[in-house]
Amino acid sequence: MARVLVTGGAGYIGSHTMVELLAAGHEVVCLDNFCNSSPEAVERVQAITGRPVRLFTGDVRDRSLLDALFRAAPVDSVIHYAALKAVGESVARPLAYYENNLAGTLTLLQAMDAAQVRRIVFSSSATVYGAPQRLPIAEDAPLAPFNPYGHSKAMVEQVLRDWCAAAVAAGRPAAAVALRYFNPVGAHPSGRIGEDPAGTPSNLFPFITQVAVGRRAELAVFGNDWPTEDGTGVRDYLHVVDLARGHVRALDWLVAHGGFVAINLGTGRGISVLQMVQAFERATGVRVPYRVVARRPGDIAACWADPALAQRLLGWQATHTLEQMCDSGWRWQQANPDGYRSQAARPGR
Ligand code: NAD
Ligand code: WQD
Repeated sequence: MARVLVTGGAGYIGSHTMVELLAAGHEVVCLDNFCNSSPEAVERVQAITGRPVRLFTGDVRDRSLLDALFRAAPVDSVIHYAALKAVGESVARPLAYYENNLAGTLTLLQAMDAAQVRRIVFSSSATVYGAPQRLPIAEDAPLAPFNPYGHSKAMVEQVLRDWCAAAVAAGRPAAAVALRYFNPVGAHPSGRIGEDPAGTPSNLFPFITQVAVGRRAELAVFGNDWPTEDGTGVRDYLHVVDLARGHVRALDWLVAHGGFVAINLGTGRGISVLQMVQAFERATGVRVPYRVVARRPGDIAACWADPALAQRLLGWQATHTLEQMCDSGWRWQQANPDGYRSQAARPGR
């Protein structure tokens, strides 16, 4: 088994991945500055698994902290989640996104080189594809991001390609997997960890669960005049536990391979906004009132993955159903109407 550094491990996907890593017998080290999460999530990961997480509180941009971390807790691999991820915010604050997402990764890779840590799994995003020319989207589709967030992810992928190529050319091992997530939703079946967006959720699923739990009056459906089956936006939603398990498989791939590869993590199935609302109401028995409004600027009509490469290289495919996504997300929201907030104040960003 390995010792893995999870940057951003207190976040939505990172916390679910730490559970799967610990369950698979790995040792876990977590680095998080808690700009968009709570230490409570790390506590709950330990409670769910009965296994310890070694937590370092701080910023992935802090080189001296990273050097100290790698000295105190030598790791075999890194899973790099730490980033800012709100598309709309990235348009308003591009420098903050490039500084955190791109510069932060450069500092991490420099510290990894100094500590001779040669394997990394990177959180990329389907956003790197922009508006797809054809569906489903395979990994050889052109990268055409159209917002600073998506650009930051595509830039980091290029950095990782070059980082691997330079190391291999110098006869040093290096392996990097960029996992391009589609739309993760849902929560751990215990209901103890889940998605806890700060402020008003920009994503569909947490908005639905907040309407269902009474925190919001109704869902605004961003357009029903899209060229889709029912006119509402279509996306590839996958269960966050499936996504987390894909990272454990990617770690195994890194041990056996060198170089860079980008891999989609999605179900290969498109679900519309109204289909998600109907699935949630069926799974939970809770009504989700909604109102159709204008399209959201920057939205695309439809996007879903060709997941064949993940199956071929990682032996991974999504297994959870839409009902399980809805049911688990509702269980989390019901048990935590205000997310982790009630447990501990959230440090400022
Ligand atoms: P999240 O905000 O819940 O988790 C990110 C974590 O990183 C948070 O705990 C935050 O405090 C931490 N963090 C941010 N900047 C940091 C820094 N400079 N130093 C240390 N910690 C820092 O987000 P998430 O949904 O779990 O996403 C995790 C990763 O997956 C991100 O890189 C995101 O871009 C990517 N991703 C997310 C989605 C999605 O829909 N949630 C889709 C595709 C890709
Ligand atoms: C899904 C569908 C909306 C909210 C975003 C980021 C992407 C990635 C995942 C980080 C769309 C509709 C939404 C609402 C709605 N994050 N919608 N009312 O836009 O596919 O992707 O999250 O990597 O980078 O762009 O996800 O959940 O925002 O929207 O009608 O209140 O739901 O129009 O069709 P999206 P989303």
